[in-house]
Amino acid sequence: ITIRKAEFVTSAVNIKGYPELTGPEIALAGRSNVGKSSLINKFINRRNLARTGNTPGKTQMLNFYRINDQWSFVDLPGYGYAKVSKEIKANWGKMMEEYFSQRENLRAVIQVVDIRHVPSVEDQEMHAFLRNRGIPVLVVATKADKISKGQWGKHLSQIAKALHIPDWHIIITYSAETGLGVPELHEAVEEILSM
Ligand code: GTP
Ligand code: MG
Repeated sequence: ITIRKAEFVTSAVNIKGYPELTGPEIALAGRSNVGKSSLINKFINRRNLARTGNTPGKTQMLNFYRINDQWSFVDLPGYGYAKVSKEIKANWGKMMEEYFSQRENLRAVIQVVDIRHVPSVEDQEMHAFLRNRGIPVLVVATKADKISKGQWGKHLSQIAKALHIPDWHIIITYSAETGLGVPELHEAVEEILSM
């Protein structure tokens, strides 16, 4: 994939706010602060198109980014942030349910996990939810720069086990810091878009 153009389209909290259906969509799901927005920025090679930050729970809305005037990334609000209120958690559930059940052009979800940690209960639930819905899900283990290369295999096989992925080699190892995994993710996205 060659990224010729990448632009922010809109933020939305419900279906009324979604942009019109124009081409396939790939959503990013993952724990708060795991690095979803950073993954997008590195993928499109733009420093700060998707807003990133140190404060977990920064992205509380669905953010739509249009790539090459053809397809879109949707940066979903993160889950699993302990300090948010029950009300925010309930809202998050409604936002996700509405998006996953009603968005016709959703082609696949990139589930982002932290390579350093065994997937949380929320990670496992999200993964199972997507599979049960028949939504293709691609797992990306990010922040790989934070552990040594020799540790990757061990961590990836633990992640695969927790998510019931048959072969850990299917997981893309990624770093928004170094650009590791960007070519592999470009290829995977190309394949998703061609399906
Ligand atoms: P929410 O929007 O709150 O759900 O977070 P997010 O998943 O979008 O995370 P974000 O991209 O904002 O990144 C959170 C923090 O992790 C930032 O301080 C990033 O700089 C850092 N970060 C993200 N990816 C990487 C990575 O691959 N390596 C390293 N070292 N830091 C990263
Ligand atoms: Mg974000």
